[in-house]
Amino acid sequence: MNLPNQPQRVLSGMRPTGALHLGHYHGVLKNWLKLQHEYECYFFVADWHALTTHYEDVSILDKSVWEMVIDWLAVGINPGSACLFIQSRVPEHAELHLLLSMITPLGWLERVPTYKDQQEKLKEKDLATYGFLGYPLLQSADILVYKAGMVPVGEDQVAHIELTREVARRFNHMYGREPGFEEKALEAIKKLGKKNAKLYQDLRKRYQEQGDDAALATARALLDTQQNISLGDKERLFGYLEGGGRIILPEPKELLTQASKMPGLDGQKMSKSYGNTIALREPPAEVEKKLRTMPTDPARVRRTDKGDPDRCPVWPFHQVYSDDITRAWVQEGCRSADIGCLDCKKPLIDAVLAELAPIQERAAQYTADRDLVRNIIHEGCEKARNVARQTLVEVRAAMGLEY
Ligand code: TRP
Ligand code: SF4
Repeated sequence: MNLPNQPQRVLSGMRPTGALHLGHYHGVLKNWLKLQHEYECYFFVADWHALTTHYEDVSILDKSVWEMVIDWLAVGINPGSACLFIQSRVPEHAELHLLLSMITPLGWLERVPTYKDQQEKLKEKDLATYGFLGYPLLQSADILVYKAGMVPVGEDQVAHIELTREVARRFNHMYGREPGFEEKALEAIKKLGKKNAKLYQDLRKRYQEQGDDAALATARALLDTQQNISLGDKERLFGYLEGGGRIILPEPKELLTQASKMPGLDGQKMSKSYGNTIALREPPAEVEKKLRTMPTDPARVRRTDKGDPDRCPVWPFHQVYSDDITRAWVQEGCRSADIGCLDCKKPLIDAVLAELAPIQERAAQYTADRDLVRNIIHEGCEKARNVARQTLVEVRAAMGLEY
């Protein structure tokens, strides 16, 4: 369960895959750009996750990390609004991962669909490792160490968020029942003041004895407005309300990212593994060449052959980049052979270049000032660490590790 109406913290990570492309931009990054203005956001480079599959060749890691960070900054992820950091610089992720591993049944990890899927897909790699089995649990630690409420991810990651909720629930159930929980909760109720204490008790009773959800909602709202009790007491009262223990690690929700509509140069989805990408920092001449030479409707062998945009990988680009008038012009011109394929591609080339120009300009500035980039990340790591440290204090105490 999440503490209701708390300012929601958003957290997401990306494995360092090197230079990002238009697929990333039109999917994940545009979503991050929007979220950074709406919530307290934490975005990080999941370098340990990269190691779970790429442990053999670590030489590209450093370059991939910085290229990715520069691309984030270049598209407009703003370190003034979002906290940007690198996973391995916040060792609390690893400590929480270790502690959660104590209570995570092996079967929960073996049953995560990506475990078998990825082993099948990456046959050339030996993924029968301890680290790879723990991939989703490390992700749970990433999320829980910030008590993030919302995690923007793609469809393929939803199972990992579900696991995170289960692990959090198990943790709270085991360790949220601190010694004397009941007494502490009763003490906390007194601090609400006479009137509110009675109200809270009545609402709790209505919820627990009659399953009255409206009473639960009212009681939560009541707790939210309390200024005079500590956060610890508030968490106890939220827990006591529902009959469980104190909520130490709140359960996160996934924020499903719409699949990118960005097509690849060959009609498949844009992805590095298909070799059909346009990188955000692709030189303009290269962008132009890639688009000019990308395949079209195979039926249009000669300029005079009529075509069908529905069978052409160029058409999905128009759906991303062109206005209605241009699209109508393509539909008519292609089907009547009034326009040639290069005519058809011209407005796209212009649109892609116009989209990339400001991104590339900013990327050049950051590339020229590596110290600035390092400082941004350094500050982000510090900020993230302060939050993570606090969680670990609570987690260690809950697990009896407070000496
Ligand atoms: N596993 C995620 C992916 O491959 C990356 C990731 C690691 C992540 N830790 C995370 C995403 C925590 C969200 C939250 O895309
Ligand atoms: Fe494709 Fe445009 Fe050529 Fe038609 S005119 S085949 S839509 S590139």
